[in-house]
Amino acid sequence: MIIALSILSADLSHLQDEVDTIEQHADWLQIDVMDGHFVPNLSFGAPVIKNLKTKLLLDIHLMVENPEERVEEFLAVGAKHITFHAEVTDPEERSALIAAIHDGGATAGIAINPETPVEHIEGVLPDVDLILIMSVDPGFGGQKFMTSVLDKVRVIRGQYPRLMIQVDGGIDDQTAKQCTLAGANNLVSGSFIFGAKDRVAAIASLRGT
Ligand code: DX5
Repeated sequence: MIIALSILSADLSHLQDEVDTIEQHADWLQIDVMDGHFVPNLSFGAPVIKNLKTKLLLDIHLMVENPEERVEEFLAVGAKHITFHAEVTDPEERSALIAAIHDGGATAGIAINPETPVEHIEGVLPDVDLILIMSVDPGFGGQKFMTSVLDKVRVIRGQYPRLMIQVDGGIDDQTAKQCTLAGANNLVSGSFIFGAKDRVAAIASLRGT
């Protein structure tokens, strides 16, 4: 199970310390890039990440209307995985985006919001390295997990035994179990980890240990 720490809920005034104290227990560091258009919130861009030192794999979640405009700058600051949203791309754009991300030496993921059916992206699943199944409406941390998305996890795991399935939104020790049983093998967690008294134990609970 890959655990991706979402920095959205970290103390952003001490971001480097927040990462330093916990990174050896996680696998990926997820950066929620929000443009205030595709999602109602605005977060951070490449300049913030450029100065962030981490040993974790840098996972960029582009919650932006024009993901093709963001790929280069995040590759330039060390992104090793980039996910864009199905809702803002059509099939042709997706192929070009995946190629650009791969050409930059990173893996590519496509994300679907809770209300987006799997059918909308079936054509692209053979080409991506990961599918991100949102279990909250994107834009904010600390929201409640939507159990309705577990069916999507099960369906995709059944059709694509080797595809990495990431779930993001409301992941805690309980919902992590449900996602794992459904077939997810990559979990994003922000407020559960950064809000925990014992962050190391919180991460271990997501791994079921
Ligand atoms: C929503 C964000 C969040 C964040 C994790 O747009 O993508 O899902 O990564 O949030 P929580 O606090 O629910 O783990």
